[in-house]
Amino acid sequence: MQEIRQNTTGLAGTICVPSDKSISHRALILALLAKGTTTINHRLISADVTATMTAIQKLGANVIENDDHTITKVVSEGRTMLINKSQALVAFDFANSGTTTRLLTGVLAGTGIKAKITGDTSLSTRPMQRVIKPLTTFGAQIDSNNNHLPLIINTPITADKLLFELPLGSAQVKNAVLLAGLASGKAVEISDKFKTRDHTERMLPAFGGEITINDDRITLPADQNLVGTTVDVPGDISAAAFWLVAASLVDNSEVTLTSVNVNPTRAGILAVLERMGANLSFKISAIGKEPVADITVKTTKHLQATTISAQEVPSLIDELPIIVLAATQATGTTIITGASELRVKESNRIDLVTTELTKLGADITATTDGFIIKGPTKLQVNEPVTLNGHGDHRLTMMLAIAGLINKGVVTLADTDNVAVSYPTFFQDLRRLTK
Ligand code: S3P
Repeated sequence: MQEIRQNTTGLAGTICVPSDKSISHRALILALLAKGTTTINHRLISADVTATMTAIQKLGANVIENDDHTITKVVSEGRTMLINKSQALVAFDFANSGTTTRLLTGVLAGTGIKAKITGDTSLSTRPMQRVIKPLTTFGAQIDSNNNHLPLIINTPITADKLLFELPLGSAQVKNAVLLAGLASGKAVEISDKFKTRDHTERMLPAFGGEITINDDRITLPADQNLVGTTVDVPGDISAAAFWLVAASLVDNSEVTLTSVNVNPTRAGILAVLERMGANLSFKISAIGKEPVADITVKTTKHLQATTISAQEVPSLIDELPIIVLAATQATGTTIITGASELRVKESNRIDLVTTELTKLGADITATTDGFIIKGPTKLQVNEPVTLNGHGDHRLTMMLAIAGLINKGVVTLADTDNVAVSYPTFFQDLRRLTK
C-alpha cells in the first residue's frame, strides 16, 4: 500500500533505469546453451529474471555473481549437456514470468528434458497454445491444462527443420521456436512479418551463432554449438516509459534517463510521444549490437491526441498502459486498435486500465482490441480513492504516475508486484519528486 504524493512541484534528476528485462532473459538462456563462460554485465535484478536464472541453474549451469549482482558469470557445458540429461522429470515454478515460460518451453522441447512447468495465478491464466502448437507440430509431446499451465513436456521435437510463420506479433512465440532449434541442433526458418523484438537475433553472433535475416525471414543453420561470451545489458525502455510520461505531464519537470535501449523493435513509445508533441532529446550511442540513448524529457504544455494501430503495437505493447494515461491528458481523441494481446498479459490490461483510470475521472472506452480516449480530462477525485494494479506490475506503476498527476487523495493498493520488473520503482519516484 502506498500513499501517492500529489501536487509535486516537478520531477527533476537523472535516473539510470533498470536493465532490460527481455535482454536479461535472453542472455541467461543463450549462456545456458553455450559452452564455456558467459559474463553478463548489469542483468536486470527482478523477480522475472530470477525465475530464468533459477531455471538455468536447475538445468546444470553454474551461476556466480558479485555481491551487488552487477556481474553474472554463467558457466555451462552447453546444449549437448542438456540433450544428454537424465530422464527424471524436472519441476519448474516460473512464478509470474511469461517470458521465462514461453522461451524455456522452447528450450525444453528442443532438448527432450522431461519437465513440468507451473506458475502463479496470473501466469496460470495465460494462453500457452501459441507455443504448444508449433512445438507439437514439430513433433514434441506436451500436455497442458487445456492450453494453460501446468505444462508437461514429455518428448522432444523430431522435425529436421523448424519452418514457422509467426501467426501473431509475439516475440515470446518467435523465441520459443528459435531456441527450440538452437537447443536441438535443428535448422530454423521463421517468418516474422510483425517485426517483434529482435534481441536474440542481435545477440546470437557474439555467442558464435550463425543467423541470416532477410526482410521478415530469419534463418539459422543446424547443429550450432554456441560458445560463452560477454553481454552488456542496456537500460529498459519499458521502465523508462513511466518517467517519459510522468515528466511530460508534470509541470516544471526535466528528467534524464541514461543508457536506455532504443532498439527500433522496442522504441514505439518514442515515436508516439513525439507525435503527441512531447519534448524529448536524445544522445545516441550503442551497447553491443543494441542502440542506446540518454533521453532528456521536459514538461510538455500541450499534448495532442494520436492514433496507434496494429502495425505499431509490437514495438510498444508493454508501454500501452502508460501511453493511455498520456492520452487522457492530450487534446482530442486518441484511438488505439490492434492491441487485443493486452487482454492476455499479466492482467487484462484493456479492461483494468479503463476501470482504474475511470475511477479518477478519465474518459476511456475499452474496445475489443484497444481504447478510445478523450482528452484532456483533469484527473481529480473529490473523495479519497484507492487504485489497484491487480497484481500487474506495469498497471501498478502506471497508476502511481496517474496518482501523481491527479489532484485528489490517492492510495495505491498491492504495490509489491513492481518487483517483477522494477523493484526500485518507488525509490526512483521519491528521488525524482524530492
Ligand atoms: C517479451 C515479449 C512481449 C512482452 C513481454 C516480454 C519478450 O510479450 O509483452 O513483456 O521478452 O519476448 P509477447 O511476446 O507475448 O508479445
